[in-house]
Amino acid sequence: LTNGIGLTPPMGWNSWNHFYCKIDEKMIRKTADALVSTGLSKLGYEYVNIDDCWGEISRDEKGNLVPKKSTFPSGIKALADYVHKKGLKLGIYADAGYFTCSKTMPGSLGHEEQDAKTFASWGIDYLKYDNCHNGGLKPIERYPVMTRALRKAGRPIFFSLCEWGDMHPAEWGAPVGNSWRTTNDITDTWESMISRADQNEIYAEYARPGGWNDPDMLEVGNGGMTKDEYIVHFSLWAISKAPLLLGCDIRNMTKETIEIISNKEVIAVNQDPYGIQAKKVRMQGDEETWAAPISGDRVAVVILNKGPIRTSVTARWDDIGLASTTVVEARDLWEHKTLKTKFVGNLTATLKSHSCKICVFFVNP
Ligand code: DGJ
Repeated sequence: LTNGIGLTPPMGWNSWNHFYCKIDEKMIRKTADALVSTGLSKLGYEYVNIDDCWGEISRDEKGNLVPKKSTFPSGIKALADYVHKKGLKLGIYADAGYFTCSKTMPGSLGHEEQDAKTFASWGIDYLKYDNCHNGGLKPIERYPVMTRALRKAGRPIFFSLCEWGDMHPAEWGAPVGNSWRTTNDITDTWESMISRADQNEIYAEYARPGGWNDPDMLEVGNGGMTKDEYIVHFSLWAISKAPLLLGCDIRNMTKETIEIISNKEVIAVNQDPYGIQAKKVRMQGDEETWAAPISGDRVAVVILNKGPIRTSVTARWDDIGLASTTVVEARDLWEHKTLKTKFVGNLTATLKSHSCKICVFFVNP
């Protein structure tokens, strides 16, 4: 969407993957505090996004959405002011149907202009727009109505289409939103994570600055995967130019979680100005290579072992679009080391089960 925002994939946090409907303003404020105190905000994590269940079941007498009195007594505007004072941005959730998915609050279908105005007046910076209870109307009949309403409301708001990929939103999303979900909901397991990455990869060519494929939010830190698996999760999301929306409890993170999500070099691949999404350029049994050109004569490469046993995986130059004689200097972004030997034609590494390497290749150094 040409609204001037989302020129690199959005980074921040969202309440759903860890808290579901158990949200309140105190927890959101504490999360904003923790984004700053952990140093995450300095790394680019700026959006604090409230998901489903923040509102009353009924609109007020004027038809406005109402924050839930029991959990958001100070209102959303006060929360936005709080978050903005910390240099962060506030995101909210609505639904392109008659109710949100939880059915605990009204949808925005038929109220788009009014709700967009409300969000703008509260100081909202990001809108996730879900797809439940839509009366069977096509997404293309519902989502662009909110695009126009947001434009009319006059505040730049990142617009995230949460259509779950059913109607191939990558094919029509660019003029409508800043990102579009290519999959249904992720769960905190290896299988779910890998299948979201794979389904999202199909649409790689549609990603660009201002419009991103969204394989759903991060599960890093929620406990369902091993450290190596979370590293694969974070590496694949980064190289796929996916939104980096943390989904754990930011107030209580292990050192391991902080270490993974704070990797500056991996974040820099995600935030590269080219905005080119990686493609899976080789798949051979359980071995995979993913690659994307990044700025400055460099290529970002993930080599991945999806199998149950340790194995050696090779990145081949002809797969990643380099001439076979090209000399490459490789930097390992998890080891934070530039490898001493230079490589010509291919690079091989031995990888544990369910683990990967993400490297930056400097071409003809
Ligand atoms: C479905 C979405 O895909 C989820 O990310 C989350 O927003 C829930 N709805 C909330 O009900």
